[in-house]
Amino acid sequence: MMPMSTPTRLAVCPGSFDPLTNGHIDIIERSARLFDRVIVAVLVNAEKRPLFEMPDRVAMIREALAHLPNIEIESFEGLLAEFVRSRSARAVVRGLRSTTEFNDEWQMAQMNRRLAPDVETVFLVPAPDVAYVSSRLVKDIARLGGPLEGLVPPGVAARLSRRKTEGPRT
Ligand code: PNS
Repeated sequence: MMPMSTPTRLAVCPGSFDPLTNGHIDIIERSARLFDRVIVAVLVNAEKRPLFEMPDRVAMIREALAHLPNIEIESFEGLLAEFVRSRSARAVVRGLRSTTEFNDEWQMAQMNRRLAPDVETVFLVPAPDVAYVSSRLVKDIARLGGPLEGLVPPGVAARLSRRKTEGPRT
């Protein structure tokens, strides 16, 4: 009898990652343990101007996640549902930090299901020590010269301090 091949369980971890935080890392590491392969999908923000350009955001993720053999990093534009379908992934993973976040995430999951009915959204709960970390707060702390240790990986902290010494982008 021919052996049945097990399908690869592929998930997409989407986000702006502007920049990557230890909260993101926690969720990506958990995803990499649950799924065979994980694509970290970095949104090309068409509307809001990100602090870091795409090559920098990707480089920071690549550096910080070099220890995970089953992840890939890609940028994407347009609908997440389309991107997920184009890669034949079956799941979208999102970290759920709080009940406040739940409403927006629930709406997004329902909308993505409407757009791609075969794709499931999987919510993962972050480790408590990073559950309050967000890219927005990290950028604020960096701008005001506060300590970044424990919030972002060293490569991100270095880029944030460099950005601060260079002054704001016009
Ligand atoms: O890190 P973020 O900013 O919380 O990630 C949000 C992201 C990238 C997951 C979301 O904005 C997204 O999926 N954008 C792509 C456009 C899209 O599909 N919009 C409809 C969502 S229902």
